[in-house]
Amino acid sequence: MALRTLTSLGDLDGARVIVRCDLNVPLKDGVITDDGRIRASIPTLRHLLAANARVIVLSHLGRPDGAPDPAYSLAPVAHRLGELLESDVSFVADTVGNDARSAVEALGKGSLLVLENVRFSAAETSKDDAIRGEFAAALAEFGDAFVSDGFGVVHRKQASVYDLAKLVPSAAGLLIETELDVLYKLTEAPQRPYTVVLGGSKVSDKLGVIDHLLPRVDRILVGGGMVFTFLAALGNKVGSSLLEPDQIETVRRYMAEAAERGVELVLPTDVVVAASFAADADHTVTAATEMESTPFGSQGLGLDIGPESAARFAHIIESSSTVFWNGPAGVFEFPAFSHGTRAIAEALTKVSGLSVVGGGDSAAAVRALGFRDDQFGHISTGGGASLEFLEGKSLPGLEVLGW
Ligand code: 3PG
Repeated sequence: MALRTLTSLGDLDGARVIVRCDLNVPLKDGVITDDGRIRASIPTLRHLLAANARVIVLSHLGRPDGAPDPAYSLAPVAHRLGELLESDVSFVADTVGNDARSAVEALGKGSLLVLENVRFSAAETSKDDAIRGEFAAALAEFGDAFVSDGFGVVHRKQASVYDLAKLVPSAAGLLIETELDVLYKLTEAPQRPYTVVLGGSKVSDKLGVIDHLLPRVDRILVGGGMVFTFLAALGNKVGSSLLEPDQIETVRRYMAEAAERGVELVLPTDVVVAASFAADADHTVTAATEMESTPFGSQGLGLDIGPESAARFAHIIESSSTVFWNGPAGVFEFPAFSHGTRAIAEALTKVSGLSVVGGGDSAAAVRALGFRDDQFGHISTGGGASLEFLEGKSLPGLEVLGW
């Protein structure tokens, strides 16, 4: 079956259209620090407003405890949405109650209303189909049609992502279409050499994707906290760096499989080791095989790949025709440990084929380091979702749209 797209919903003039976005953006002291996901949702919203629909936006924000929590209110997000759309956006601090109903009833043609965080109800994320179904049915009463456009959350079987799509005529929005177009290119006949760059803290989060990609890619570059499990698997001491001892055997297996398949699995040859986890911590560069020979001994923490590795990674990336990158190479939030991540981002901007930055953290990293979105082929709004897509898993939020 093919993905149902907006045209399948027909004429939406005056129709109440519920749109599930992923407006889960990082906030610091109530201020949005990266509005990428809000900007990515604009094309679909503009499209629906231009069609004269009455647009009702749903989203989650963070992981509140299934109850209202002002720290996770969508109010600042609704405000930013209004700025980006350059139009009035209403917000109601309610999701399915009487206030929400009144606001929906008052909504005029070509206007937009944001309802409060769907995760303020525990039913949204419940594992119980009946509980989720009841919440979805209450949401469904608000709309004549449902547009799913929160790509970042399509891997979740949740009420406003999955169950709601079954209750009213539903289709994918423009963001989901764009994301799938790009990610599909990575899975079907990618231009070679095809390089995948993996970072981030936990190797256990990336096992599925490594497993699935080994038969499909030419090179896998490993950075970030997960690298220390690889280094340990090769018999190196890694001080007090992040380590997942229970993954060492699996990592060894992947290294052996990579060698058998002729996939280049590239690890850093040097790392930046720090005395502690702090922006101003003492630090030094050392060979990846000598991590405990620094003045910090076994207390040392690897917080970034070293300059030699960064240059090598950059060279491999620039000479690739397809690159997918997920996960920072180091603690990029601290300038002293951001060089590896910056070198990778810089190299991606020079790829002449398709370069894709996948995931909330990596997207936030490139923007925090001062890169522009248009310097990359595509910045995916989905972290877990894009990884699960590349793992070949079936994603409930896409399946329900006919994908
Ligand atoms: C994300 O940030 O990856 C998405 O918004 C999904 O959020 P979740 O991991 O809390 O479901």
